[in-house]
Amino acid sequence: MGNRADQVIGDVLKRIHEAIVDNDVTYDEYQAVKQWLIDVGEAGEWPLFLDVFVESAVEQQVYRDREGSQGTILGPYHLPDAPVLDAPYELPKRDDEQGDRMHFSGRVVDHEGNPLAGAVLDVWHADAKGLYSGFDPSVPEGILRGKVIADDEGRYEVRSIVPAPYTIPHDGPTGKMIAAADWHPWRPAHIHLIVSADGYEALTTQLYIDSSDYLDDDVASAVKDNLVVHLEPKEGEPEVLHFDYDFALAPARTPAVA
Ligand SMILES: [Fe+2]
Repeated sequence: MGNRADQVIGDVLKRIHEAIVDNDVTYDEYQAVKQWLIDVGEAGEWPLFLDVFVESAVEQQVYRDREGSQGTILGPYHLPDAPVLDAPYELPKRDDEQGDRMHFSGRVVDHEGNPLAGAVLDVWHADAKGLYSGFDPSVPEGILRGKVIADDEGRYEVRSIVPAPYTIPHDGPTGKMIAAADWHPWRPAHIHLIVSADGYEALTTQLYIDSSDYLDDDVASAVKDNLVVHLEPKEGEPEVLHFDYDFALAPARTPAVA
């Protein structure tokens, strides 16, 4: 078996060399890129840059043959220690939380449609200003995050508020690159989830709100057609916007025998 590092790193460098030739890169540009790479590190923006501009390609490649529901990128705003909430499930919010009220529900099943009782849905999303708790100091810790448990028939439901589209941080070197390339830093409104059950491969995904801007040009290239949801007034509660979504989990990959 060949040396994997030799193969992958060698290929990446070869393609960089080709891009330099194809675009007739100058010494000034080389020096600017070198300084930019140093700046990204000093600003602590490597997780941001990689999750926004590289992770979607890795996710699509790794899960190209996955059974069950589609996943997408994790992104940089997950906090693994969000608490398990108590039923009826509502993500923690402030007393004066802004934003339209939202309810979503559905089932967690296996790839053959059998219910997965006790499946865990780790849910997090931005607030109505596009800000995340745990990352923006203006949002109290724990807001709009929590774990929800599916019932004996695999059914789940969650109440929260409708998140807003947001810009990735763009006041540092990553933003400077976006501006230099004349791109934009926006992500469409979305809800993050990690859906898991014993014996099944955890599904990291996002659901995108179909009325949101930027569905067609997400800066993170993470939107997939079957992750887009349509919100409608809930039956009996017209002031609450509702959608249904079912998650199908693939069996856990068999670990390699040592
Ligand atoms: Fe997000």
